[in-house]
Amino acid sequence: MSDAENIFPPTTDNLARAGEHICAGRLVAFPTETVYGLGADATDEEAVASIFAAKERPSFNPLIVHVPDMETARKLVEFTPAAEKLADAFWPGALTLVLPRKNDSGLSLLVSAGLDTVAIRLPNHPIATALLKQSGRPIAAPSANKSGQISPTQANHVAQSLGAKVDMILDGGPCEVGLESTVVDACGAQVGFLRPGGISIEELEGVVGKLIFPDDAPDAPKSPGMLTSHYAPNLAMRLNAKDIRQGDILLGFGPECTKATLNLSPSGNLNEAAANLFAMMRELDVKGYKCMAVSPIPNKGLGLAINDRLIRAAAPRS
Ligand code: TXA
Ligand code: MG
Repeated sequence: MSDAENIFPPTTDNLARAGEHICAGRLVAFPTETVYGLGADATDEEAVASIFAAKERPSFNPLIVHVPDMETARKLVEFTPAAEKLADAFWPGALTLVLPRKNDSGLSLLVSAGLDTVAIRLPNHPIATALLKQSGRPIAAPSANKSGQISPTQANHVAQSLGAKVDMILDGGPCEVGLESTVVDACGAQVGFLRPGGISIEELEGVVGKLIFPDDAPDAPKSPGMLTSHYAPNLAMRLNAKDIRQGDILLGFGPECTKATLNLSPSGNLNEAAANLFAMMRELDVKGYKCMAVSPIPNKGLGLAINDRLIRAAAPRS
């Protein structure tokens, strides 16, 4: 645990204060079921700009707008038939829908980085919902870490990464999913897959049929946030490690992996592995080693999103 001065338990008083911070254009970090978000009023251009500043994030990268209910979502974006089905099946939850922005949405332009679409999500977390209702504003929130660093799944991770740049951090304990939301483009009849995350491709295809992948259609819309190097620890990374070499610290997976310093899931459960991923990567990112070796992770279900994050963490640093 951290003793940072800006971490607060989610009492009624603290939630009321957090809501006031949002309405005043200040930054509040809050838990969702996926990761902690760095929140600001999505209708306030300057507040949104301060998110980019705190994260030191490239400003072409649009943010996710969080809402407490469908009614609010409908005021901000146009729901297509596919979006209706997806929201019905997965909201509240770890799915973000990219949809046409309504002209009278009142949303900041910076929030969608100049695009005429908005990424929107109804999170499944009582503290997130309470903050959204308390402030009465849609809240723009990327993960609450400096750009390129590992996403925070605990309040003290936020304090370590952003320190006093955030006015208040609401502590909701560890995040249940532990990976960001899946992002899909639901503007057209066929849904486009933009970013792997907490809801798997199999689950999505069960509801809306075959998805379009960026590789299938070279001009399909891309998610500008998909920078190659991301989620990077300080140590070098070696993936699909089947042995331990000199200078390695091993992040394991599954029952066969007995020599790991930490194991993402000793029973081989991908949900448990996803929930542990970022916290364990932080814990192993220590001096005295050359490389973080990671056991092979099966590339199905949530394993796909875990591998996506690991490949980014291992990519050449720019
Ligand atoms: O779980 C999550 O999604 C967390 C929590 C806090 O909700 N948020 C999060 O936000 O990961 P962020 O800003 O780090 O990721 C937003 C992703 C980026 O990959 C961005 O490029 C994409 O969504 N995105 C946002 N708006 C878009 C748009 N209009 N079109 C296409 N992609 C968009
Ligand atoms: Mg992020």
